Amino acid sequence: MIGIYLSGTGNTKHCLTRLMNIIDPDAVLIPIEKTDSAEMLRTESEILLAYPTQFSNVPYMVRDFINKNHEIWQGKKVFCLTTMGAFSGDGTGCAARLLRKYGATVTGGLQVRMPDSVCDNKLLKKSLEENKKIVKEADIKLDQAGKEIKNGNYPREGLGFFAHVAGLMGQRLWFYNKTTDYSSKLKINDDCIGCGACVSLCPMGNLRINNGKAVSNNRCAMCYRCISKCPKKAITLLGDTVIEQCSYEKYRSE
Ligand SMILES: Cc1cc2nc3c(=O)[nH]c(=O)nc-3n(C[C@H](O)[C@H](O)[C@H](O)COP(=O)(O)O)c2cc1C
Ligand code: SF4
Ligand code: SF4
Repeated sequence: MIGIYLSGTGNTKHCLTRLMNIIDPDAVLIPIEKTDSAEMLRTESEILLAYPTQFSNVPYMVRDFINKNHEIWQGKKVFCLTTMGAFSGDGTGCAARLLRKYGATVTGGLQVRMPDSVCDNKLLKKSLEENKKIVKEADIKLDQAGKEIKNGNYPREGLGFFAHVAGLMGQRLWFYNKTTDYSSKLKINDDCIGCGACVSLCPMGNLRINNGKAVSNNRCAMCYRCISKCPKKAITLLGDTVIEQCSYEKYRSE
């Protein structure tokens, strides 16, 4: 088995690593941005695909990845793992339907609540203690699910009809226009000092330095990695001010 993941602030990477440590500790985990040269994608028969829910949908970058590699899914077994800040409805189901279209067998789905990675929206901000508690609960859930999967009992979160309706009506329909392409809405303000940190972090290669300032090429996957790591808090996307940068490392308890 191999794990493929998109992770902006580290939540999904953590969850996939924790789950895989139980299911298959020898499994190779590959960030989605490094899959171009990953021959294992073709040769492995089982894949655990992990990503953060965005507007109760699969991030466009992950859909792009599934579509671009459409020829590899026939006959593959895929388990979908999603992380979410509060509610995803059928966060796993959205990818599952696309994967099935290309001939994959979806073995199950798991949706795990983690701290919200959107750090430029006051309404979504939680205290450090609250986020630590969320991570602890997530770890318990992941450990239980891992044991079940090892025994052949695959959870099916987000894959059923009711989850589909909940995801659609709860969020996806209202935010549909935000999920149909890469985003051109990334904002970089004058506080940018041109350090280049964001350029090397971006999984999309969407950023470059021009005249000493970072510039977006309008192909943002909305992962919030650069926004959470910029030393000058100069980057925003959904909001206009960075309230507190997010990173899984801040919230882990061990
Ligand atoms: C653009 C965007 C949209 C999001 N939409 C949702 C959502 O619809 N529901 C939800 O519960 N969390 C949502 N989140 C929160 C993330 O899914 C969650 O924090 C996830 O664990 C981040 O994982 P990562 O650190 O691996 O990127 C959203 C985050 C971003 C950046
Ligand atoms: S990380 Fe921040 S300060 Fe550094 S180049 Fe990017 S936007 Fe500018
Ligand atoms: S520009 Fe920033 S938020 Fe957008 S994909 Fe790159 S790292 Fe993620």
